[in-house]
This record gives sequence, structure tokens and C-alpha cells, in this order.
Amino acid sequence: MLTANSTLGLFRGLTTFSQLWYYYNNVTYTIVAPINIVDAPAYPYRGFGLDTSRNFFPVEDLTRTLDAMSWIKLNTFHWHITDSQRFPLEVAEYPELAQNGAYSPQEVYSECDVQYIVSYAAARGIDVLLEIDTPGHTSIIAASYPEYVACFKASPWSTYAAEPPAGQLRFALPEVVNFTASLLSDVAKTLPSKYFSTGGDELNTNCFVNDTATQEHLKATGMTLNGALDAFTNATHGALIAHGKTPVVWEEMALTWNVTLSNETIVMVWISADDAVSVAKKGLRIVQVPFDYFYLDCGAGEWLGDSVPLNSWCDPFKTWSKSYTYDPLANLTEAQYHLVLGGEQILWAEQSGPQNLEPIVWPRAASSAEIFWSSKQPSGDALDVTEALPRLHDLRYRMVQRGVNAIPLQPQWCALRPHLCDLDA
Ligand code: ACM
Repeated sequence: MLTANSTLGLFRGLTTFSQLWYYYNNVTYTIVAPINIVDAPAYPYRGFGLDTSRNFFPVEDLTRTLDAMSWIKLNTFHWHITDSQRFPLEVAEYPELAQNGAYSPQEVYSECDVQYIVSYAAARGIDVLLEIDTPGHTSIIAASYPEYVACFKASPWSTYAAEPPAGQLRFALPEVVNFTASLLSDVAKTLPSKYFSTGGDELNTNCFVNDTATQEHLKATGMTLNGALDAFTNATHGALIAHGKTPVVWEEMALTWNVTLSNETIVMVWISADDAVSVAKKGLRIVQVPFDYFYLDCGAGEWLGDSVPLNSWCDPFKTWSKSYTYDPLANLTEAQYHLVLGGEQILWAEQSGPQNLEPIVWPRAASSAEIFWSSKQPSGDALDVTEALPRLHDLRYRMVQRGVNAIPLQPQWCALRPHLCDLDA
């Protein structure tokens, strides 16, 4: 018997039901019946993030990812769809952005693809939170609108941007404000989600120091760069809010810059747990994406051509067990707990493509899924890596049976003998 308050609750209940069963040697069996389960999610935001700009992922990779997400009750696909390197998104009102900004005409998400992905996700209880990162991470827009982008391909790129190639929107210029507000709202209005991310991370101020167009405008209007960013944020967020959307931003927009954000704004915290405390002090809601626990790309070394022997900024690799120990409420007061909506593990794709998507994500991304669904063990005890491991093995084998290339967590000998490979066994 399955009862729930909503259709979505029934769907999650069926997911739990499927997790009670094993299939082996042509036999389907369970070892826990009869059983009574009362369950509900601890947090409303349980996400997985993917960057599809640095390298392209075909639609089938995204739908298979959504399948796997639904098996562990993740409910938000945070789609960082564009970045400085490429713009693989077809926008009806701005077709040139993808025409000039994709790696190839085949490596574009058409409007139809996006609608298909959104409805595929919805059928699995997953909301698609699209991100068009602005005003940094936008070099590629120069391929269509060179006059909108400052320090385009400036060298050395590291003086002007977080990643090559340099180039950021000239957000102080009114025509750029209008363009960005229209672009974001034109995309957001095609999507059912209440949420839309405008990005806002890693804005580099050096880029604007010698940018004549920006400096002349600041001088003529008497504005500071921060004041111009405030106006840009007001206009772009205002356009989204006018379409009934709630803006989502990376933490710099709340902490580095002095810009006015609507109280509804959701802040993705990625740099440190201390920053979550600072965001909470501002009374803004938080999605936890701490790089030192949840970034799935770390651990592959540096990818810049002339520094290949070095580590990358976010090495080492974040094991599933490291991710699993993240406490999303650390250092917050009980009165602030409600501000934490949840969190996500995310794959930035500088060194990823369809070839390693599944092995690099699964089953690791299930760590945060359990943190944000269960938050504690049924006994009330804190989550515990040793207790979780046999269950994660179950999930990993289930994923493999269902055609997802989830990597082994241990030698199979250990997987079949729970706890016999523990250090003190
Ligand atoms: C980020 O990693 N720049 C959000």
C-alpha cells in the first residue's frame, strides 16, 4: 500500500519500492519484507549540476542523466548551458548566438531539444534550472556582438578572466543591459521552472580598467563599476521577476559586490562554508555547492596547455565519502536552517564529455542526494560513511544493471562482503 499527499510523492514512493528489490540469476527478490516506511525529503532542493559549454553533451546523455537522477530522488537539474568558450543554446530571438557560438551546427540544443529535456525531466519529478552565466563567462557573445564584450581575447587571459578566452559583457552600457535582460527573459519565458540562474561568478574587474567603452560611460554618468553592476542586476533580475521567475545567482553577487538583490534571490554558495554563514546573515536562501566537497571535476590535474604537470585549483578528487561528510547546516544558527534549500554536486566539463560523464558522476552524485533527502539515518543518528557504503554499492550495481556506467567503489570481493574491508575488520 502506497499513500502520499501528491502525485510526486507517489512517484517517490514507487522509487523507494523499486529499491527494495534485487534481481539476480533470473530471480527478483527482497530481503526486507514485510516493511513499513514513512518518508519525506529533508530539503526541497536536491540537485545535480552540469556544464555543457566547455564540451558538448548530446541530448541522450542528458536524458540518461535525468533517469539516473530520478532513481535517487534528485529533483533539480542545474543546467549551466553556456560559458565563455561556447554558446550551444538556440534562442529564437537571438539565433546568431548559437549560429556563431556553437562548436558545430550539430552541437546545439535547439528550442525543441530544450523542451524535450524539460518534459523528460518533469516526467521524472525533476525541475530544470537553466543558467546563462552573466556578466562574466561570456566571451563567446563577442562572436555575434563584438561591441558588447570587453577585453575580448585579451592576453594573458589570466589577468582578465578566470579561464581562457578572456571577454566579459560590458554591463555598464545601456544597450548591453537591454540585450542581456531581453536574452535572459526570452529564454526564461520558454521554461516552466520558477527559477532561472543569471550566474554572476568570477567577474574580473581588470577587464574594465582599460576598456574605453566602459570607462567613457562611467565617466559620463558619474557611476562606479559597482553602481553599474547594481543597475545591470536590477534590470536583468527585474526582467526575470516580471516573467514570474525567481533569480538564482552564484555567491559573489551577494558577497563580493554591493548590489541590491530581491529578498527572494537564491544564492549558490561554492567557495566556503563560511560564505554560507555570510549569505545567511543577509537573510538570503542558500543552495550548497561547496567546491571542496561537491565539485565532481576536481582531481584530474591542470588542463592548461603549458602547466599540465601542475594540480588544478580544486584538486584533489572529491571521493563519494568526502562529499557524504558535508554538513549543510554547519556554523548556521537554528533560526537560519530554513534558509538552506539544499544543494548539489556539479560537473564542470573542461575535462569531461560524453565519454566520461557516467563514470565521473555515478555513483558519487548519490552522496549529496542522500544528504539532502535523508539528512540523518532513520535512527536519528548522523549520516555515517561506513553505514552508507553497502547501500551505495546496491545503488551502483542497480545503476549498472540499468545501463549506466557507474564505477565500482571497491573490489567486488568487498562489495559482496559488507564491512569485511573496513580498516578494523
Ligand atoms: C564557479 O565554480 N565558478 C561557480
